[in-house]
Order: sequence, then C-alpha cells, then structure tokens
Amino acid sequence: MNIDFYERIWMWAAGVIIAAFIAVIGLSTVAYGLHPPSHIETIDPSKIFTDPRFSKLGQPVEMPDGTIEVQMAALMFSFAPNEVRVPAGRRVRFRLTSADVTHGFMISGTNANTMLMPGYISQFTTVFTRPGDYLIVCHEFCGNGHHIMSGRLIVEDAK
Ligand code: CUA
Repeated sequence: MNIDFYERIWMWAAGVIIAAFIAVIGLSTVAYGLHPPSHIETIDPSKIFTDPRFSKLGQPVEMPDGTIEVQMAALMFSFAPNEVRVPAGRRVRFRLTSADVTHGFMISGTNANTMLMPGYISQFTTVFTRPGDYLIVCHEFCGNGHHIMSGRLIVEDAK
C-alpha cells in the first residue's frame, strides 16, 4: 500500500502524541500517587443520617494517629454541614458521601477534589498548609440548584 509521505508523517506524529499522553498518565500515577476515588466502601444513601460512620457530621474527630477526620454528606443542594473548621498543618481525612444524586466536592485553591456518588463513601487525606477561608463547591451537575451548592472550609492557624 502506498501512503503519501506527509500522510506518513502525520500518522507517526499522532502515534507519538498518544504515547506521550499515556506516558504522562503513567508517570503522574507513580510520581504523585494520582488515582480515581476508590469507591470500595458502600453505604445505603437513605440511612446516612443514622449510620454510625457518619454520626459525627460537622464535628472533626481526632484519630489515634493524629489525623483529623471530617465527615460530610452532600444532598440537593447543600453540604451537611455547610461549614467545617480544621487546623492548618495537620493531616485531614475527608469521608464523604451523597444522600441522593452524584455531586462533586472541590475545595477551591487546593488540590482537594473528588466525586460523591450515592451508595459509596469517597475518602481522601490532605494537609492544608495555609490558614484561611476556602470555598467548597459542587462541580457535578446535580439539578436546578447546582449553581448555589457550596460550603465553607475554615483552616485555622494551629499555633
Ligand atoms: Cu451538587 Cu452540583
């Protein structure tokens, strides 16, 4: 089969670009530990507010290893609770779930960003180095009130 010279160049260029993208995904997975939310822990979305795993909504709990655990639920169109206070410079583990539809959870100005799906608990651990007032937004379209769905994270100076 005769393939035009320029056609051949572009085929190779497309192949190199695809290989580069795959390499970037592979490298960032190893170098930064990036991965999608695991979604291995399940929960009945209709029983969140009576489930012992979410009995401390809005009250950050200090775990034996010093990590602060924050439990939050998302529901149309707010977060429960809507405001959370955590200390700066400490490991903070978020345990999140949805009571109805798929919501997003992003803390603006940080790399905290996950999806909240009904039936599953999303979990991630992070450290906030800068004290301040952070906006939490839902970034998955969840209905008519999606654009007003937000919360507030206050990172306090640990002193
Ligand atoms: Cu919740 Cu968009």
